Amino acid sequence: MFYPDDVVEEVRSRSDIVDIVSGYVKLQKKGSSYFGLCPFHHEKSPSFSVSPNKQMYYCFGCGAGGNVITFLMEYENYTFPEALKVLADRAGIELPKQEMSKEAKAQADLKMTLLEINKLAANYFHYQLRQPHGRIGYEYLTKRALSDDTIRHFGLGYSNKTSDDLYRYLKGKGYSDNILKESGLFTISERGTWDKFWNRVMFPIMDTNNRVIGFGGRVMGEGEPKYLNSPETKLFDKSRNLYGLNFAKSSREKYFLICEGYMDVIAMHQAGFTNAVASLGTAFTTQHASLLKRYTSQVVLTYDSDDAGVKAALRAIPILKEVGISCKVLNMKPYKDPDEFIKNLGADAFRKRIQEAKNSFLFEIDVLKRGYDLEDPEQKTNFYTEVAKKLLEFPDALERDNYIQAVSREQFINYQDLKQLVNRTAARLGPAWAESRQSAGYGSYADSARQIPLPGGTESGVTRNEPAGGGGTHRAGPKKREKEDGAKQSQRLLLTWLIEDPRLFDKIRGIITPDDFKEELYHTVAQMVFEGHEAGSLSPAGILNHFINDEAQYKEVAALFNASLKDSLGSEEQKKAFSETVIKVRKNSLDEASRTAADIGQLQEIIKAQSALKTLHISLD
Ligand code: GTP
Ligand code: MN
Repeated sequence: MFYPDDVVEEVRSRSDIVDIVSGYVKLQKKGSSYFGLCPFHHEKSPSFSVSPNKQMYYCFGCGAGGNVITFLMEYENYTFPEALKVLADRAGIELPKQEMSKEAKAQADLKMTLLEINKLAANYFHYQLRQPHGRIGYEYLTKRALSDDTIRHFGLGYSNKTSDDLYRYLKGKGYSDNILKESGLFTISERGTWDKFWNRVMFPIMDTNNRVIGFGGRVMGEGEPKYLNSPETKLFDKSRNLYGLNFAKSSREKYFLICEGYMDVIAMHQAGFTNAVASLGTAFTTQHASLLKRYTSQVVLTYDSDDAGVKAALRAIPILKEVGISCKVLNMKPYKDPDEFIKNLGADAFRKRIQEAKNSFLFEIDVLKRGYDLEDPEQKTNFYTEVAKKLLEFPDALERDNYIQAVSREQFINYQDLKQLVNRTAARLGPAWAESRQSAGYGSYADSARQIPLPGGTESGVTRNEPAGGGGTHRAGPKKREKEDGAKQSQRLLLTWLIEDPRLFDKIRGIITPDDFKEELYHTVAQMVFEGHEAGSLSPAGILNHFINDEAQYKEVAALFNASLKDSLGSEEQKKAFSETVIKVRKNSLDEASRTAADIGQLQEIIKAQSALKTLHISLD
């Protein structure tokens, strides 16, 4: 979908950000901005700011930032056109009809129709639960200790024993066989069309916008398969949806619980753990992990306590680590799954287990240990060697040492001995080995781009404060990174200053042009900032519209526009810093130009400009 820039800007400028955000976050005025608890990460004191002047929000805690459109995209998980539509409706603006291709239109219509069908089906199943022939389903659910409220909340239902009642119901609503076939709810053969789900308790599966996209059904009594899921359809992609996420996403816990089944999710939510989700009868995928990453950076795995559950946990851990989610593993024993545990020991005991959940690395070591007979000295030695190898997967020395301490404590190994073994093992295997394990994502403790201390930073290992999108950039070697960052930082700082105090444009006139911003993104931004200033309509939130399709970019630009400057240019120190920054940006630009100069004439110009720069003085008074 494509809307012209002026339409997007009109919708944005007629939607007040303070108005919209205060529908979701309790805001308090402080100076020229509003502050509240950040809805994008867990916090106890407000670092989320909304600026009516800039028409932007920015969190100094987690770096989330943007304009009114990106706020809805992030908070409601809307796509760009969805967010735009909501705001346009609110502001009473009619969006231009989209010139969609015939195919695109047909696809969009098909999706809408399938959503309608699913909704009707979910209501139908839910209704059956209260009918005499649905008693078996209702009794099953109450026997499993679900309350009426829970049944309603999750929209649970029952599919009758009759083989085609849903089909006839939907036909009666006027849907064609062709479209019903696409819903995944029916089996179609030469002999006729049958309901795929019958005699099952039905679990509607919802996306994060509470739209029914598929179903799971548990057979009543013994039958195969025990759980039947909707097949993949135009709406339903198992590897991209998590059961319960529609509720969990607003639980406001800082961590999520991941479990195996429908009943586990529901039992946990009923017990007050509304941050529980499950992958749907499939293994946990990278897509699941990235989906979760939007909402949390910490999970507790609550898989079944049997072998299959342990295996599932071992598989999920590196996948979660890879996207930067840290995880712990809950000990369910002596029960099989969260549902049973809570039924037997209650919510408080479960909460205690969550608090005691084991760090995923230590859990992996525990599982590893099961493969060795520790009574046998040789096997014991082998076990220790394997532990040492695993410890080498931590690229950062400090972090590795923390784990050496933890493992030695847990496994009763002398700390010095274990440390020596790790070092000897490293020497024996060589650095290439450790690197290959790390880059293969094996056990992906290497992900810790976010845990590598920044140059000069002391304990700033965890870099939540960093503008988003920086994740990958930290992989470059420290030397190079420092130099790049120097030039980049000056450009960023200068832009921030200009946004903060447009009077500064006068001070740099004739010295700096947008072309001096050599970072591609900053160059683009600078062009818009300078243009906006010249036209007397500099609008940070409007500029942001241009980056809306790229999350990493708009976050970086939002950070740029909101970075806090230690009191604007009051102090002498700040004045000096500003002057130095201007000179740095210009110098970097000239240096680069001299490297790419086409002829001697150009080069002479540059050299002249370079020496002029040495005597440049910028007065702010
Ligand atoms: P009950 O308590 O007996 O209803 O099952 P459970 O909650 O203990 O679930 P179980 O551990 O058997 O399975 C956990 C999850 O795996 C279920 O919620 C389903 O999503 C999935 N699952 C289980 N059995 C099947 C099956 O036969 N087919 C498919 N596709 N998925 C299944
Ligand atoms: Mn169970």
